[in-house]
Amino acid sequence: MFALPEEHQAIREAVRAVCADKVAPHAADVDESGVFPEAAYDALRAADFHAPHVPEQYGGAGADALATCLVIEEVARVCAASSLIPGVNKLGTLPLLLAGSEALKQRYLPPVASGESMFSYCLSEPESGSDSVSMRSRAVRDGDDWVLSGTKRWITNAGVSDFYTVLAVTDPDAGAKGISAFVVEKVDEGVSFGAPERKLGIKGSPTREVYLDAVRLPGDRIIGEPGTGFRTAMQTLDHTRVTIAAQAVGIAQGALDYALGYVQERRQFGKAIAEFQGLQFMIADMGMKIEAARQLTYAAAGRSERVAPDLTFFGAAAKAFASDMAMAVTTDAVQLLGGYGYTRDYPVERMMRDAKITQIYEGTNQVQRIVMARQLLAGVQSRL
Ligand code: CAA
Repeated sequence: MFALPEEHQAIREAVRAVCADKVAPHAADVDESGVFPEAAYDALRAADFHAPHVPEQYGGAGADALATCLVIEEVARVCAASSLIPGVNKLGTLPLLLAGSEALKQRYLPPVASGESMFSYCLSEPESGSDSVSMRSRAVRDGDDWVLSGTKRWITNAGVSDFYTVLAVTDPDAGAKGISAFVVEKVDEGVSFGAPERKLGIKGSPTREVYLDAVRLPGDRIIGEPGTGFRTAMQTLDHTRVTIAAQAVGIAQGALDYALGYVQERRQFGKAIAEFQGLQFMIADMGMKIEAARQLTYAAAGRSERVAPDLTFFGAAAKAFASDMAMAVTTDAVQLLGGYGYTRDYPVERMMRDAKITQIYEGTNQVQRIVMARQLLAGVQSRL
């Protein structure tokens, strides 16, 4: 892709306007208080940017993968915690879209599309982080029902989401092929939540444990066939790692935009610090790295939309590259603001804290490199 199509440029402008007016003004308070960004959720809902990926047939906006990335990027540019609203709605619902029955989609997608409900994704556990296959949560058949027990950890938007995709072992002897995916509702008997994690960043997005205490689910809540859950979970991440890349690009762009204004205002040694070549080199590198990550992210979004054979490589590459870039760029933004950058009176320290999670969640960047290396060794090559 050499230029964004006009309709995508229009989406970027529309999201940017909503964010400038209604998301950015609350970002510092949301970070300081650690309270879920209700005002941002309302604004995103009003503009249909809260779950843009939901297809039109289920009442959604039907945004393609690139448009969804643009929404997430623009929200993250001003408030990373708020960008997890469209981001995690896609993560939670994608297993349904990829592998769910038509009845499940009809039941659970319209409330997400309308903004009535959010949808989270439960893969990780206290003892199963990078090694997802070692999960212990169990789902046992009981007549037509399934009974789920276990603990899920690091669940984004837990407690505020009404619906959860939950991965659990249905056949302990079958490894990855013994894992299945289910839709669990917040109101199902036996579902409860841990205390909010006390995190470094994305403080407005609640991260909690989800406890499943003999939760009885009707048989039709399974997503796909028994034993296909791990594959669905990994396919989901292939797509949504691209959205994390978009989030990272947005956070970095927000930090650069702020730093660019600052270095032209701030005067030392009788002139604006932007006039010093050492700082010019820094901002040039920041802009260059952001643009490289953005192009890789959009190339990956194209592969997500087409479900291209090299999506697994591109999703991992975009996520790892963009999140490493975001950490470097936000750290440099703090450096450009000097002592002021290190205080909570300026937004760049928040952006630096928020950037850190993009190197960790949806698979650490070390896991992304395992994924990429396996794809390369298997001969999966990029073809434009
Ligand atoms: N698409 C389809 N199938 C896939 C796949 C993919 N992308 N990746 C793996 N599989 C299949 C494999 O083909 C294999 O199937 P067979 O047995 O039929 O060959 C099966 O799944 C097992 O795969 P592996 O042998 O590769 O499994 P592994 O144990 O070596 O693990 C891993 C691979 C890449 C490390 C994987 O466990 C992984 O991605 N871990 C990180 C998990 C992660 O991203 N967690 C974040 C959770 S989401 C989150 O962050 C929460 C939030 O709210 C934001």
